[in-house]
Amino acid sequence: MTILTAPLPHPPESSPSFDFARIRQLVADEARAVDRLILDELRSDVVLINQIGIYIVNSGGKRLRPLLLLLVARALGYGGEHHITLAAVIEFIHTATLLHDDVVDESTLRRGQDTANALWGNAASVLVGDYLYSRSFELMVSVHDFRVMELLSKTTTAIAEGEVLQLLNCNDASTTEEKYLAVIARKTAILFSAASRLAGMLARVSAADETALESYGLHLGTAFQLIDDALDYMANPEELGKNLGDDLADGKATLPLIYALQHADPEQAALLRTAIEQGNRDAFREVHAIVEQTGAIEYTARRAREEAEKAIAALSVVPTSDYKTALVELAHFSVARTY
Ligand code: IPE
Ligand code: IPE
Ligand code: MG
Ligand code: MG
Repeated sequence: MTILTAPLPHPPESSPSFDFARIRQLVADEARAVDRLILDELRSDVVLINQIGIYIVNSGGKRLRPLLLLLVARALGYGGEHHITLAAVIEFIHTATLLHDDVVDESTLRRGQDTANALWGNAASVLVGDYLYSRSFELMVSVHDFRVMELLSKTTTAIAEGEVLQLLNCNDASTTEEKYLAVIARKTAILFSAASRLAGMLARVSAADETALESYGLHLGTAFQLIDDALDYMANPEELGKNLGDDLADGKATLPLIYALQHADPEQAALLRTAIEQGNRDAFREVHAIVEQTGAIEYTARRAREEAEKAIAALSVVPTSDYKTALVELAHFSVARTY
């Protein structure tokens, strides 16, 4: 497979440098507390759970969702401790979905190392994913807030729906941008929206402000997944830590493919349709060339930028502070990221 290292076209002009370390520094103590809690809560006397759990948790994920929750909580002046717990809950749920997702997608590389399913098999990955889900519910109950539990249970239901909906759309070359957006809203964006809304709930903001925070997360999460799907065609795989072409191999018609299909000539369109229907990784080079030629990556990046702008607009309910600036930067990062 060709290794394509071209950066995403047109990074946002106003984008500051995406210095994660600097952003994380704003909530450094809390981020460390979240990491400690995650490791403590993982522990089980079932050896395989410890092995796989620690393997994936220590494998260097970006911890973007907990970071977002911590930053929103601080931006709103929340002074309690529950944001630490809920940030860990969100990362547990995220990690559970990754364990399941890599089985479903038959992925072999994540975070630059072998996936759990590649090392321990599908059965172990699914079961440990279930364990992480259950742990997340145990942990969220400790916050003793019915609305928090209601939001998080709805969130996990929606994620599962998104993944199943996507399965139904696989190998279907007639899928639309609208259907694709409905899938990514559920499978990815909703967890970001839960993270930011939960912080609002903890800080006891008004219902209208909660809705604005939810909107921030939804748009940011949508931008994040749009770029994830662009990166599947054009990232540097070493930097991304995942194999390119996984989506094509699964017959997933993500936005780059949907757009390319609409703008390709008849011969190219026939090739794309066959590749989607057969889930054919061997066609990656040819498919990639058509995706490039039709401007599908630019289009996907433009859609992501629009989403990031909407996310930033939704932050108008948050008072000015360094935390808020970091939240704006996270929206830019979601678009300009290369990993
Ligand atoms: C991967 O999410 C799954 C998607 C929603 C695209 P991340 O890119 O946040 O994964 P890690 O946790 O940093 O590995
Ligand atoms: C990510 O979907 C969404 C969930 C894990 C629920 P993808 O399949 O696009 O994510 P990657 O590319 O495997 O990280
Ligand atoms: Mg996947
Ligand atoms: Mg992907």
